Order: sequence, then structure tokens, then C-alpha cells
Amino acid sequence: MLKLAIFGSGSGTNCQAIIDAIDAGTLDAEIKCVLADSEDAYILERARKHNIPAIYFDCAPFKTKLDGEAEQSVLKILEEHDVNFIALAGFMRIVKDGLLNTFAGRMINIHPSLLPSFPGLDSSKQALDYGVKFTGCTVHFVDAGVDTGTIINQRCIAIEEDDTLETMMKKLHAQEHIAYPEALQWIAEGRVALK
Ligand code: GAR
Repeated sequence: MLKLAIFGSGSGTNCQAIIDAIDAGTLDAEIKCVLADSEDAYILERARKHNIPAIYFDCAPFKTKLDGEAEQSVLKILEEHDVNFIALAGFMRIVKDGLLNTFAGRMINIHPSLLPSFPGLDSSKQALDYGVKFTGCTVHFVDAGVDTGTIINQRCIAIEEDDTLETMMKKLHAQEHIAYPEALQWIAEGRVALK
């Protein structure tokens, strides 16, 4: 049984899609806790509405990574909540060795582009500015690189002439909300080799 911790930094619509898939019986998993690096991230409110432990953790003094004391406190939280798998869902920090080693092959992420194109930040804007005709989302294992881990699932969208970043993101998010629960269910069914 997947006993999940979901990590986010913002709105949490992917977390919501995972919650909804579990409620609908299409994803065989349990969410043990939701963690965020920002106190007012709406993802925490979504968790509370579903009676899921919602935990803020302070990453200071680091601005872009989860490391040091914060990483140690997160590892403790995960142990206390009996977590065996991590889903990063809009978590905007780099995870470092402590978490990577403890959850080797048991941590995945969703990224808003068709990797290996457009890794890193602002991927959707990069894709739109580049002029690609198709983009999409990727669910992948997390390794020590930035968006370089083994790919589990991808879904694509067409970018039309009149698309703006806003209209494109709407289509993209709809595909993310299918791709993420689907990937987790494949893992739950043992159909994906853990990398
Ligand atoms: C999603 O589009 C996800 O792909 C992206 O952040 C958004 C979070 O939305 N992740 C990254 O950019 C990671 N580098 P959500 O909070 O509504 O799920």
C-alpha cells in the first residue's frame, strides 16, 4: 500500500486530483500527510478540508533547497506519519541527499513540460516562447539532477496559434490531473520498476 506524503508550495490542484482519485476508488493509496514550505500555501487548506495532517515546515536559511535542519525535521515528520512514498506536487525546492537516499526509488515529481525538453523553472513559458506546437506534463522519479529522473508518465497538449500562457496552462493542468493519479496507480499495482 502506498502511504503517501505530498509536498507542495502553492495551490495544490495536483494534490486535490490525488485526493479525488483515492476518494473515487481509482487510486489505491493513502495520504498520510501533506507538507508545504510556505505557511499560507493553499495545498495545506485542501488537506485540512479532507482531515489529512497539513504540516508547514520552515526551510530557512535556504531559499531554493530542502537541506540541513529542515531536511532532518522533515525526515522525522515522515517517520512519525509512517510515510513510505513521496509525491512532489508543485514543490518548488531542490531536494537533497538526506531525503533522496532515504526515499530512493520512492519519490516522484510532476513537471509541466515534456521532459527532457524545458527542465527547471518557468517551463511552460519557455515552451510557449520557443514556439513548440505540442507540450505537456511529465511524471518522473526524483534523482539528484533537476528534472532528470526516469520518466513514468507523460501527457501532451497542442499549443494553438491563439493560446496564451493562461489558456495553455488550463489545458496543461487538466492533463496533469489525469497523469499524476494514473502514474501513482501504476506504481501501486507494481507495474513500474522503482528507480
Ligand atoms: C504544476 O503545474 C506542476 O507541474 C508544477 O507546479 C504546478 C503546481 O500546481 N511543478 C513544477 O513546476 C515543479 N518544478 P498545483 O500546486 O496546483 O498542483
